[in-house]
Amino acid sequence: MTLALQSVSRSFGGVRAVEDATFTVEKGEVHGLIGPNGAGKTTLVNLISGLLQPTQGEIALEGQRIDRLPAHRIAARGVARTYQNIRLFAGLSAAGNVVVGEHLRRRAPLWPRLLLLPSARREERAAAQTALEALARVGLRERAGTAAANLSYGEQRRVEIARALASQPRVLLLDEPTAGMNPNEARNVARLVREVAREGRAVLLIEHNVRLVMELCDRITVLNFGRVIARGGPAEVTKDPAVITAYLGEAE
Ligand SMILES: Nc1ncnc2c1ncn2[C@@H]1O[C@H](COP(=O)(O)OP(=O)(O)OP(=O)(O)O)[C@@H](O)[C@H]1O
Ligand SMILES: [Mg+2]
Repeated sequence: MTLALQSVSRSFGGVRAVEDATFTVEKGEVHGLIGPNGAGKTTLVNLISGLLQPTQGEIALEGQRIDRLPAHRIAARGVARTYQNIRLFAGLSAAGNVVVGEHLRRRAPLWPRLLLLPSARREERAAAQTALEALARVGLRERAGTAAANLSYGEQRRVEIARALASQPRVLLLDEPTAGMNPNEARNVARLVREVAREGRAVLLIEHNVRLVMELCDRITVLNFGRVIARGGPAEVTKDPAVITAYLGEAE
C-alpha cells in the first residue's frame, strides 16, 4: 500500500468540503478521482499534499502518518502534485520553473550558491540536466528556454507535470492535467501517466474527461458533496446509478 486515506474530513466553516473519505492508491496504479464541480477533489489533493490539514481522519504514506506534516516535508517524502490553477513563474523559462520547483521542494540552503562553491555549481548543473530530461518527457525539450508566459496553456500544464516528475515522486497527484489541452496533447499526457504508473509510482488523477478516465484508470473513486458515493473499476463506476444521478444533476 502506498497512500492511504482513512475517514478524512475537512470543513471550511459550515461547508463540509470532504467528509469521511477512505481509499488507497497503490504503487503502479492510476487511481481516478472524479465527481461534479465542488465535490471536494481539489481539497483532497490539498489535504494529501499538506496545503491543508484534515479536520478529522488520517493520511498515511507507506504506513506512516503524513497528515500533520508541513507541505515541504510531505514533498520530501515523495509526494508531488500539479495545480488545477497553473502555478508557474511567468517570467521564468520552462526549465527555470522546473529547477525552481525542485529547489523550493528540497529547501536547499542558499549560501553554497551565494558563495559560488563548486559543490553548488555541480548541483546547479545537475538540476538543469534533470529539468531538461523532465521537459523532454512531456515533449517540451525544444521549449525549455521559453518564458512560461509565452507558452500555450497546454504547454504550461505540461511544464507543471515536468516539475512534478523532476522530483521522481513516489506519489503523483494530478489535478485536471489535461484541462485546456487539445486532443493530441491530452492523448500524450494519458500515455505519459500510464508510463509513470508502470515505473511503480502511485498516481491520483483528477480528470473531467470521462473517456480519458475510463481508458486510463485502474480504479476510480467518485466524490459528490465531499462524500465517496462510488468506487471500483471504470466499468462498474459508469453503471452505478448514484454516479449517473450525480452527473445528471450537474448537467441540469
Ligand atoms: N479554502 C476554502 N475556503 C472555503 N471553502 C472552500 C475552500 N476550498 C474549497 N472550498 C469549498 O469546498 C468545496 C469543494 O471544493 P473543491 O475545490 O475541493 O471542489 P472540486 O471537486 O475540486 O471542484 P472543481 O471540479 O470545480 O475543481 C466547495 O464547496 C468549495 O467552495
Ligand atoms: Mg478542483
